[in-house]
Amino acid sequence: MNIVFAASEAAPFMKTGGLGDVAQALPEALSAYKGNRILLFIPFYGSIKKDPSFKTELVSEFKLELGWREQYAGLHRLLSRRRKLEVFFIDNELYFCREKAYGYSDDGERFAFFSKAILQSLVILGEKPDIIHCNDWQTALVPTLLHAFYHDELGTAKTVFTIHNIEYQGWVHPFFLGNVLGLPVSYDSTFKFGDQHNFMKSAILKCDALTTVSRTYAKEICYPYYAHGLHDIINDHAFKLTGIVNGIDTEVNDPGKDPDVPYPYGISDVLSRKPLNKRYLQETLGLPVRADVPLIGIVSRLVEHKGMQILCESLEKIAEMDVQFAVLGTGDSEYESWLRSAAERHPDKFSVNIRFGKHLASKVYSGADIYLMPSKSEPCGLSQLMAMHYGTVPVVHETGGLKDTVAQFIPDTGEGTGFVFKEFTGLQMMDSLRSAVGLYRNDRESWNRLIFSCMSKDVSWKLPAGEYMELYRRITQK
Ligand code: GLC
Repeated sequence: MNIVFAASEAAPFMKTGGLGDVAQALPEALSAYKGNRILLFIPFYGSIKKDPSFKTELVSEFKLELGWREQYAGLHRLLSRRRKLEVFFIDNELYFCREKAYGYSDDGERFAFFSKAILQSLVILGEKPDIIHCNDWQTALVPTLLHAFYHDELGTAKTVFTIHNIEYQGWVHPFFLGNVLGLPVSYDSTFKFGDQHNFMKSAILKCDALTTVSRTYAKEICYPYYAHGLHDIINDHAFKLTGIVNGIDTEVNDPGKDPDVPYPYGISDVLSRKPLNKRYLQETLGLPVRADVPLIGIVSRLVEHKGMQILCESLEKIAEMDVQFAVLGTGDSEYESWLRSAAERHPDKFSVNIRFGKHLASKVYSGADIYLMPSKSEPCGLSQLMAMHYGTVPVVHETGGLKDTVAQFIPDTGEGTGFVFKEFTGLQMMDSLRSAVGLYRNDRESWNRLIFSCMSKDVSWKLPAGEYMELYRRITQK
């Protein structure tokens, strides 16, 4: 099958969140299937252009019409010998050579340009894709633009739209329709949402298959609490909605090979080597070096939907326990300072690192005993998968992908891979955390079994890639 994967970010080229990981690993996993050819498209951000380790060639230059504008577009290809997975970059310095990937007042126009340029590039390349797989609001215009402008050349392609996070929908003023997209008013109802226009709504309406990144989130977004206004639209199109849980790249994220794990390990030597990583982490963070104390880790954006409110409210309760607590991440200044001041009050227990970096993240995943993820909502979540794969027991709120991937530990049978709390409250979070700490202290045998269960869980892309293939086959009937 010829599959086009369109995303606003893909690691290692650009990554601001989980989408970047998915857009790297899923195309890779799909390319392993016999007969598949994957074309990945992302913007040619300034940081990619400047990085000498990414060697590219110019394939084509063209003018792209965007309403009354005519914009320069450059099509570049990553130089690599891989014929089954080709990476293309869409260039326009005005749009993409900026400090950040997103967060500008003309983001709508930037990603309208990107989405249309992908379609134009496919025509120039003479490609006839079977599938065009779009992700989140930034590429949500593709199904509509395909329908409106490229029907003759690319009309046989089926579109898949994946929601990684329904919170960001791509809102624009109604004048965008004619002014930027150059679409007739007959498309008004495709975009109109309240008195604004909404990219995501148009994709939900126009795509052939709609997916999101866990089965539970697929159900949750039918309700107002989770849908950020789009529940009615989702409900109307629920017939084409599937939830497919993400995986992680278990080649790159392997505690036995990860260069940022000080003492690499696998399931056979985790019990003897994980403590060495814990000691290393304690030393690095300036925490007392103690083997017996449970070390709780968090690697997260410090924002509300990650559960920072209930976490911050519970910090003093955590400090009352004999535990250590390591936080890594950046986010809202309110939570940053709340966490920082707790660390000042309890320097022997808390280590708060307001920054983000893969090097330290891997040290937390490999060195912590418990991984806390109290997200209020979580479409899928990749960190709990990372934690389990590194033998770190997750404590999570029962929502979205956390519900689908972490099963509550049952003492009698030894089943489960972590601790799951149902209600989104500090009280319930603390109960779960106390259960985890209690098991760690009082029943090391069960705890060790839990570590093995976590590490044995298949969190790779193998199963999810198979589900995407099945979906592609269903809609293309190939
Ligand atoms: C978004 C979601 C996260 C998901 C990721 C990849 O970042 O918030 O839950 O894992 O996308 O799909």
